[in-house]
Amino acid sequence: MIKVLFVCLGNICRSPMAEAYFRHLVKNEGLADRFVIDSGGMGSWHTGKPPHHGTQTKLDEKQISYQGITARQVTADDLDEFDYVIAMDDQNISDLTMIKKEAPAASVAKLMDYLNNSSTKNVPDPYFTGDFDQTYALIEAGCQALLDEIKKINQLN
Ligand code: 4NP
Repeated sequence: MIKVLFVCLGNICRSPMAEAYFRHLVKNEGLADRFVIDSGGMGSWHTGKPPHHGTQTKLDEKQISYQGITARQVTADDLDEFDYVIAMDDQNISDLTMIKKEAPAASVAKLMDYLNNSSTKNVPDPYFTGDFDQTYALIEAGCQALLDEIKKINQLN
């Protein structure tokens, strides 16, 4: 199984959106049984809560399921458990660096790193910007690029 964990700050806006979108992509490509997909937040404020209503509205509009997705905090063990830990911004990366043990098994990167030639390096936080459309567009492009890369590396078709 290829294990992918999306990470943001609160785990109610960006990373659950990425989790839901990536699940949708993988299912559409007939690869659902090859993946474990999850998301988590660096903070614990929203543990057990469903995605933010702005994320729910956007996913509803696109007819993408977020059923069963609830917030949880990322742990140091996640960095060994998952193969790909995909952060939304530089702050998440530095927060992950603080909790990680030595030499974590996971490949840790930002979602936007998978987009070649993108001038956008971080996925803006709609909790503060209010712009869930902009965040969705970046997550859509980033998740497709991430899946393409994982398929190439793992020779999945
Ligand atoms: P997210 O957005 O990291 O995309 O889930 C946030 C949600 C909640 C908070 C911060 C960011 N908060 O401070 O509660």
